[in-house]
Amino acid sequence: MVSMKSLSIWASSLLYATLLRGCSASDSHLGDEHDIGPGLGSKLSNGASIYFPGNAEFSNATARWSGYGAPNISVVVEVANQWDVAETVKYANRHHVPFIAINGGHGNIGTLENVHHGIEIWLHKLNAVAISDVGNTATFGGGVLSVDVINALWAANKQTVTGVCDCTGFLGPALGGGHGYLQGQYGLISDNFVSLEVVTADGELRIVTPTGPNSDLFWAMQGAGHNFGIVTSVTMKIYDVPGDGTWAFESFTFTQDKLEALFEYLNTVGDDGNQAVDLAYWVTFAREEDVDPANPIITIFVVQSNAATIDAEVSESLHDLGPVVSEAHAGPYTSVSSWTEFNLGSRACGKGGPSMIRFPINLKQYDIPTQRAAFNALAKGTLEHPGLQHSTIMLEGYSVQAVKAVDEVSSAYAHRADHLLVSPVIIYMNETDRAPALEFGDQLRSIFHAGSGESELHAYVNYAAGTEALETMYGYEPWRQSKLSALKKKYDPTNRFGFYAPIPAAR
Ligand SMILES: Cc1cc2nc3c(=O)[nH]c(=O)nc-3n(C[C@H](O)[C@H](O)[C@H](O)COP(=O)(O)OP(=O)(O)OC[C@H]3O[C@@H](n4cnc5c(N)ncnc54)[C@H](O)[C@@H]3O)c2cc1C
Ligand SMILES: *[C@@H]1O[C@H](CO)[C@@H](O)[C@H](O)[C@H]1NC(C)=O
Ligand SMILES: *[C@@H]1O[C@H](CO)[C@@H](O)[C@H](O)[C@H]1NC(C)=O
Ligand SMILES: *[C@@H]1O[C@H](CO)[C@@H](O)[C@H](O)[C@H]1NC(C)=O
Repeated sequence: MVSMKSLSIWASSLLYATLLRGCSASDSHLGDEHDIGPGLGSKLSNGASIYFPGNAEFSNATARWSGYGAPNISVVVEVANQWDVAETVKYANRHHVPFIAINGGHGNIGTLENVHHGIEIWLHKLNAVAISDVGNTATFGGGVLSVDVINALWAANKQTVTGVCDCTGFLGPALGGGHGYLQGQYGLISDNFVSLEVVTADGELRIVTPTGPNSDLFWAMQGAGHNFGIVTSVTMKIYDVPGDGTWAFESFTFTQDKLEALFEYLNTVGDDGNQAVDLAYWVTFAREEDVDPANPIITIFVVQSNAATIDAEVSESLHDLGPVVSEAHAGPYTSVSSWTEFNLGSRACGKGGPSMIRFPINLKQYDIPTQRAAFNALAKGTLEHPGLQHSTIMLEGYSVQAVKAVDEVSSAYAHRADHLLVSPVIIYMNETDRAPALEFGDQLRSIFHAGSGESELHAYVNYAAGTEALETMYGYEPWRQSKLSALKKKYDPTNRFGFYAPIPAAR
C-alpha cells in the first residue's frame, strides 16, 4: 500500500504538470478533475501504474504500428488484473473521459483517431497462460500477443488458431473474427472461444459464454467484439499438434509478366473454397528496384502444416512459372513467423514507422484482367506519387473449410462465404500525403470490387480503413444490423466502445 500511495502522489503531481502543459482542450474532461492519481490510483492493485506524457513507459505504451489510426492518449493506466480494468472504466465513466484498451498497438482503423485526450488501458501485463489439465482448452490473459499463444501452446505440443504476425495482440484480431493459417482446420480464432471474461461499458466484469446469461454478448464478441467490452481473459479450444509438428515454407519472387499465369494457377489452388486445409499463401505486389527497376514485383509465400516440403504439385507449378528467386524452409511452427518476416524484430512488428492504410475487400476467386488492372494501377500510382511509392497490395489465401462449417447466423462474423482477403496497403510518411493515400486506396479497391462481379463490398473489419459503410464490415442482412444495434443499446448505450468501426446503438 505504501507504493500505491506514492504512486498516487507521483501521478497527481504529474497530471498537474500535464495540464499546465496545455492539456486544456474543451473536449478533455480530465482537466475538470485533477484526481486521477488519488481518485483512480488508490483503487488499483499494487501491480498497476499510471503514466503521463514525457515518461519512457508512456512512449512505449502509446507507440503505434501505423501513424494513421493512432488514438490520442493523455494518460496510460497499466493494469495488472481484471479489477484494475473495471475500476479504470468506472473512473473514466464518472469523469466522462474516453478510454481505449490497447494491446499489440497494431490497430490502424481511422476511427481510432476519434479518441481525443483519452485514457489508454494498457493490457500487456494481463499475460497469463494456463492450459487445462484435460488439455483441450487454455485460458489466456487479455494482454497476450499472438507469439505468446503460439509459444506457450507449442511448448505443450498444442496449437490453436492465431493471427500470423507474432506481435499483434491475440484478441485484437480475434474480436473481429480472426484469420490465420490454422483456420481451415479449426475455424476463425473467435470460433474457438469457449468463454470470455469481459469488462463492459458499465465497468462490470462479466463471464460470457455461449449458453450463460450473456450468451447474446458471446455472439457479438465473435466478430464485433471491439464494440462491446474489454476482454480480460479468454478460454479457447486448443488442439494436439499433429505428427511431429513440422511446417514447410517456400517463397517465390516473380516479375510482373508472370501475373496472369500465377493467378490462373492460384484459382486452381483455391478450388472454389476447397483449398487444401493444410495450405496457406500470401501474395504481395510491391516495388523492389533491385529486382525490377521499372515495375512492382510479385512475391508469394506458401506454408503447409505437418509437412517437411510444400506439396510437390504446388511447388513444381510455381517453379514452372519461372521465379527470379525462391527459398524453402522446414521446421517447427514457432519458426514460421521468421520465414515470413512477421517475427518480433521484423519490420511488420516495428512501431513508430510510416502511416499505413488498408483498403480490404474479400473475394471468392481472382478475375485475371482485374488482377492485371489493379497491378497496373499500383504501378502507375506509386510512380506518379513518390510519397506513396512503398504502397503494396496483399492477397491472402487461407483455406476455409472449418470457417464455412460454422453456421453463418451463429456469430457476428458476417463473411464466411468469402475465400480471399485482398488489401491495397497505402503507405506514406508525410501527412501531406494522407488525402492522396485515401484516394489511391479507394481507387485500387474499386478496381477489385468492379471486377468481383459482386454488388456488395465485403471488408474485414480488422483491416478496414475506417471509411467503409458499416454493412461492408458487419454484413448486409437487415437482421444482423438490428441485432448488433440492439445489443449495442443493451450493453453500450452511450457508445463508450465507439472507436473501432463503431456500431450505433438502436434508438
Ligand atoms: C502486421 C500485421 C499483421 C496482421 N495479421 C493479422 C492476422 O494474421 N489475422 C488477423 O485477423 N488480423 C491481422 N491483422 C489485423 C489485426 O487484427 C488488427 O490490426 C488488430 O486491431 C490488432 O490488434 P492489436 O491488439 O495489435 O492492436 P491495438 O491497436 O492494441 O488494438 C486494436 C483494437 O482492438 C481492441 N482490443 C485489443 N485488445 C483487446 C482486448 N483484450 N479486449 C477488447 N478490445 C481489445 C482495442 O481496444 C482496439 O480497438 C494484422 C495487422 C498487422 C498490422
Ligand atoms: C520500451 O520498449 C523497448 C523495446 O521493447 C524496451 O527495450 C525498453 O526497455 C522499453 N522501455 C521502458 C521504459 O520500458
Ligand atoms: C494528443 O494531442 C495533443 C494535441 O492535441 C498532442 O500534443 C499530443 O502529443 C497527442 N498525444 C499523442 C499520444 O499523440
Ligand atoms: C511534406 O511534404 C510537404 C509538401 O510536399 C513538404 O513541404 C514538407 O517538407 C514534407 N515534410 C517532410 C517531413 O518531408
